[in-house]
Amino acid sequence: MKVLHISAECFPVAKVGGLADVVGALPKYQKKIGVDAEVIMPFYDNNYTESKKFVNIFESELDLGDRKYIYQILKLKSKLGFPLFLVKIPELLDRKYVYGFEDDSERFIAFQIAVLDWVLQSKKKPDLIHCHDYHTGFVPFMISHSVKYKTLERIPTVLTIHNAQYQGQFSYDKLYLLPEFNLNKIGLLDWYGQINPLATAIKCAWKVTTVSPSYSEELAIKSNGLEGLLLHEKAKLLGILNGIDSKVWNPEKDKLISKNYSIKTVQSGKKASKNKLCEQFGLDNTKPLFSFIGRLVYEKGADLFPDAFYKALLNHDINILVLGSGDKNVEANLKGLNVPFKGKYNSFIGYDEALAHEIYAGSDFLLMPSRVEPCGLNQMYSLRYGTIPIVRRIGGLKDTVIDIGDKGGFGICHNQTSVDDILYSIGRAVEFYKNKKGFKKNREICMKIDHSWDKSAKEYISLYKSLI
Ligand code: GLC
Repeated sequence: MKVLHISAECFPVAKVGGLADVVGALPKYQKKIGVDAEVIMPFYDNNYTESKKFVNIFESELDLGDRKYIYQILKLKSKLGFPLFLVKIPELLDRKYVYGFEDDSERFIAFQIAVLDWVLQSKKKPDLIHCHDYHTGFVPFMISHSVKYKTLERIPTVLTIHNAQYQGQFSYDKLYLLPEFNLNKIGLLDWYGQINPLATAIKCAWKVTTVSPSYSEELAIKSNGLEGLLLHEKAKLLGILNGIDSKVWNPEKDKLISKNYSIKTVQSGKKASKNKLCEQFGLDNTKPLFSFIGRLVYEKGADLFPDAFYKALLNHDINILVLGSGDKNVEANLKGLNVPFKGKYNSFIGYDEALAHEIYAGSDFLLMPSRVEPCGLNQMYSLRYGTIPIVRRIGGLKDTVIDIGDKGGFGICHNQTSVDDILYSIGRAVEFYKNKKGFKKNREICMKIDHSWDKSAKEYISLYKSLI
């Protein structure tokens, strides 16, 4: 069975968020169990692509509205565990960043046209196409209703929604960018008077999955305007919990942390990383270390951090460390805490993969008070490194973390994304930390939990089989 994953991000080539981690890991695990999985993504002009070698396997010209673009399909020479193809469209796609340009709609439509033009002429076509998020949302529509892709219409398509907050909608004056299609089907592009690629994909894909069972339930209640559609398409929707790449995220082998450790050596291993972080960020290694890693946006509850951290640092003898970037106001307010709380608080505004690994290893607790969390991978990374997640009971967080007060529990959970809930959980964590023996035991329990992709990769395969 040959499956082509189409995505805007794939780790380690280009990563903005968890989407990259999933697309960089799932195909590896699918290959292990006999699926011929491949990935195609845009070629961006970043450090990774600059340092790697590619083979040019196809070259052509595509039409985007009234403009023509020359493009190439490149194949990465290094081994990732699956074949990786990249669409290089000079000027349009190969820029320094993945998203955030005025012409993102044009960029991702061109990407999808290039992918389908390439598939159209290829001898061995995929048995199934797996699209990820709105950037690839027109593929199921184009396969079914565009004149030129008619011969592909029997290829089943699966859409995975990693995050329904982002839908990529734009107005009808850009309709002409899409290749000619059966105009009777124009309604499939529409959601509340705009062209909405995520809504289009939900309507047209043969099956829609999302990244945790709880999020699949929540979508019909809260999905940034798509509730009605998702309720209507409920029968097509399936929640499959993400896994993690347990080779990349392995404290026993991780080259990015100060000292490797196993369940047996967790105490000394984590201590080495904590010491390193405390030295680097001027923190106190005798106090518990609470961290946050991620985008500083409303969805993650980051707007509450300045207030919550201020109060937590005043009331408790703890350290807090933040790694992330996002909302400029939040960034500024978080930086503002550096001075009054010198010695117990610090923030690194930006992203640094190596530092993230050290933080998972060196922290005692990881904060995730998300308002929306389709799956969340950070809590799973943190568990693997023996760091206790403090999460809001929502989406994938609810599916992966059990509170220490409940049967079989190992994490700390709260119900709301509010300053009070965050403070209450920090208070519970501080108490829990004092119980040295119980705390150590809990670390071991966390590390034993298996969140590798093995199980979920199989669920995707049964889904594929039901469609082919
Ligand atoms: C998005 C979601 C996150 C999920 C990831 C991978 O980034 O916000 O919750 O874990 O996609 O599916």
